[in-house]
Amino acid sequence: MPNITLPANSLLLSKDFLYGVATSSFQIEGDRSGRLDSIWDTFCSQSNTIEDNSNGDVACQHVEKWQEDVALIAGLGVDAYRLSISWPRVVNSDGSVNDIGMQFYVNLVDELVKRNIKVFVTLYHWDLPQYLEDNGGWLNRDTATAFAHYTELVASALGDKVYSYATLNEPFCSAYLGYELGIHAPGKTGIANGRQAAHNLLLPHGLGMKVLREKCPNSLNGIVLNFSTCHSATDSQADVLAAKLADEYHNRWYLQPIIEGTYPDICQQLPNEQQPDIHEGDMDIISQPIDFLGINFYTRTVYKATEDGWFDVVEPKNVPLTSMGWEITPDAFTEILVDLHDRYSLPPIYITENGAAMNDEMVNGEVVDSDRVDYFNSHLNAVHNAVKAGVNIQGYFAWSLMDNFEWALGYTKRFGIVYVDYETQKRTLKHSGIAFQELVKSRVNVT
Ligand code: NOJ
Repeated sequence: MPNITLPANSLLLSKDFLYGVATSSFQIEGDRSGRLDSIWDTFCSQSNTIEDNSNGDVACQHVEKWQEDVALIAGLGVDAYRLSISWPRVVNSDGSVNDIGMQFYVNLVDELVKRNIKVFVTLYHWDLPQYLEDNGGWLNRDTATAFAHYTELVASALGDKVYSYATLNEPFCSAYLGYELGIHAPGKTGIANGRQAAHNLLLPHGLGMKVLREKCPNSLNGIVLNFSTCHSATDSQADVLAAKLADEYHNRWYLQPIIEGTYPDICQQLPNEQQPDIHEGDMDIISQPIDFLGINFYTRTVYKATEDGWFDVVEPKNVPLTSMGWEITPDAFTEILVDLHDRYSLPPIYITENGAAMNDEMVNGEVVDSDRVDYFNSHLNAVHNAVKAGVNIQGYFAWSLMDNFEWALGYTKRFGIVYVDYETQKRTLKHSGIAFQELVKSRVNVT
């Protein structure tokens, strides 16, 4: 059976390096009747949006089975669990607290803390309350104010029992996929919409940071961003420039305002009508200091230039892929970590997501997902290489604890280290889960 092997002297083998597993609310919770609708409920109810026409009504029935799931997490021996809070479960449309919904998270956090598992909470993992979308969603600056209020309610209920709060998960996906390409909820399109949504998501990040710093000064507070290393298809000047533009548009657009209070140059290069409306003082709010940066990484992306001087994705050919069609590129992981470290003055980094969807098969009660074990092995070694090169990385979360609703791809893709049988809701540890468990167990005290 393949396993995860790191160099004997690796910092990743010390007990100080944190290991965890991650999920998000809409992807696992189910129990739609216990909350208001989110933009993903609406999106799922429209035709041709979700590959298998599924939705989040049941998902992994986590609201019902949360105790079993916490036991599963504890059984893995991990130090931490990254979860997200469903905004429409904890806040009513008049801004008051939904007590039953909030109590669900209080119980969950208490149980995790009792079992000595550090809780990493993400406040916004894409499930915007539909009533806010009805008022313009992330195109309306008032949504930023609503987010600050929601943050206050959660911070008051959970306080610093939560080890770490992240304001947002992957604002790139919310803005670009949700408001520019329209392949995620709420399905809006156009560059102007995408850029405005991106700005209007960074603003509440800053407002949320202020609230968290005040209410939970002992928690580690920050944001989770996704990065894909941008490579050029050829060495031609045009393609090299295309990859640089893509890096600015997809990666640096979200990081640079937070760290340096400025957008990358590409923002200025857009025609006026596509540039976001930025109010005086916004960039100061956005660039609040953060205690940590969460990095999600899955793959690199290759770009070529288009005739009009923009960039276009080149689909991978004849290379190893995951079942998402994503190229398996561990070296690109090291590369981007080192590059970000060299370019920006960053706080400590946590890898808040990394993992792979594979074509899992349950045979005689077992899922022998050697391909996923290989993925974890190569990517953990990539993290090791980045640490060796001087990048300050404090922890690593596998995406995901269990198979779940993979957004526009529904339940057709499995990312879990635990297999979920959606007919019976039975959870089974895959071989990758066992390999992860063994890695976590094998760590030693380093003084
Ligand atoms: C990033 C997202 O945060 C998560 O929700 C998603 O399932 C994974 N990527 C895999 O696509």
